[in-house]
Amino acid sequence: MSLTSCTLLVTRQETRSLALSPSLREQLELDNVRSVVLRVGSLNATVPLRTFNRKGEYAVLSSSLASTLKLPSSGKCMIRSSGTRELQVGPLIGVLTAVSNHPTQPFGPRTAYIRELMEAGKNRSFFFAFSPQSVNWETETVTGYFPSPGGSWVRKTIPLPDVVYNRLPNRTAEKTAALREFKEKFVQRKIPIFNWSFFDKWEVYRLLDGDRDASQHVPDSQINPSSEDIRKMLDRHRFIYLKPTAGSLGYGIFRLTLNPGKGYFLRYRKDGSNVLLRFPKFDGLFNMLRKLKLKMSQYVAQQGIRLIEIDGCPIDFRFHLTKNGRNEWVVAGVGAKKAGKGSVTTHVRTGGQLMVPEYALSATQGELADSTFQKAKDVAIKLAKAIEREYPHRLGELGLDLGIDQSDNVWMFEANSKPGRTIFKHPQLKQQGKDASANLFEHFLYLSRFSDRRE
Ligand SMILES: Nc1ncnc2c1ncn2[C@@H]1O[C@H](COP(=O)(O)OP(=O)(O)O)[C@@H](O)[C@H]1O
Ligand SMILES: [Mg+2]
Repeated sequence: MSLTSCTLLVTRQETRSLALSPSLREQLELDNVRSVVLRVGSLNATVPLRTFNRKGEYAVLSSSLASTLKLPSSGKCMIRSSGTRELQVGPLIGVLTAVSNHPTQPFGPRTAYIRELMEAGKNRSFFFAFSPQSVNWETETVTGYFPSPGGSWVRKTIPLPDVVYNRLPNRTAEKTAALREFKEKFVQRKIPIFNWSFFDKWEVYRLLDGDRDASQHVPDSQINPSSEDIRKMLDRHRFIYLKPTAGSLGYGIFRLTLNPGKGYFLRYRKDGSNVLLRFPKFDGLFNMLRKLKLKMSQYVAQQGIRLIEIDGCPIDFRFHLTKNGRNEWVVAGVGAKKAGKGSVTTHVRTGGQLMVPEYALSATQGELADSTFQKAKDVAIKLAKAIEREYPHRLGELGLDLGIDQSDNVWMFEANSKPGRTIFKHPQLKQQGKDASANLFEHFLYLSRFSDRRE
């Protein structure tokens, strides 16, 4: 295989033809070849191969060939030859997401991130976003949105992509049989797709059950806890969290505490403020949970972890992991989050404050800050590898919510398969956000085989 970058030109010619500049022809080892199969995404065509006399790396397609192959545009991209008669230009990278007809924000709040990601692949790929509705499986084509200058987007009908990055935003919709079958169609066509779908907290804890090394970092947890389970867990751990297994952003989370001599305490967020209730007996506490209409079958009870604190407020961490061009997990960025006063979670939405991890750790760990940070990074990689090993679908990105307790142990509260980008809004973490996008792009190259680190 040989791989390089080139500039594509399209001429007005009616017949299908392809010409390569001498230097490109040589690099692709096609010196004595008279015809090739040219592939763009899922479409291909056999064409005679000619030489285009110009210095540099150029491939010239006739307009008829470009339209047969539904080439998204001329300009710079990658080109690879596999074997002696096959050429492929690309890669075509598709971000799968929900699309509206808004002129500048067609992907809603995800638009800015999708544009930033596309920036990482500029001049080296054809990067577009598409919705499940825009795929035509019969013609193997898709209508994709391409970024254009000035913040607008252009729609083009193109072949199916070489790799799919799933950023569908709706947890419930994604569970439907229709969407599952839709995603399976890429797998059947051997088009790599990640991340498969949103995670469920309990599902991830269970995945790690068989892996002792990884599961030691998961707090003691129980799905669908009975009142007896909750009472026992409170006796054992003194405080516990009740969290919706399919929840996010801290919604629906309760903290229960047993303080011998003082009774039971319940903390949660209601209508924008923090509530703290006290009950002399367990029954009072449980009645309150009943009144709050918690659907216990959808809830996980979890051992509370005594997190390190700044100014009496707990701190935890978001570890944003991506795979890279060598298919390895890397910690692309880490944000620390300090809980708002009286809040049960560290989300910015509930008064949480975002900070750089080095600052948070040196304030709490002093001289041990560096070694604790390194240890947490190692645990994050270990957890990512374990989740990937046990999970039946491809993974390429993970957001792990990790806590460090007062004895320096690292705990995982949840794994997010479609992590948000809030931590990268911090001025000192912006570069890490760019790094995460650059890693992901390298991983797309790896998955689409437009990488010399593969084959
Ligand atoms: N077992 C726990 N012990 C201590 N704090 C926890 C525990 N579980 C969750 N938290 C706190 O609540 C936050 C939100 O929990 P998480 O499991 O990430 O749910 P969500 O999906 O709502 O983000 C965590 O970031 C952490 O600050
Ligand atoms: Mg979380």
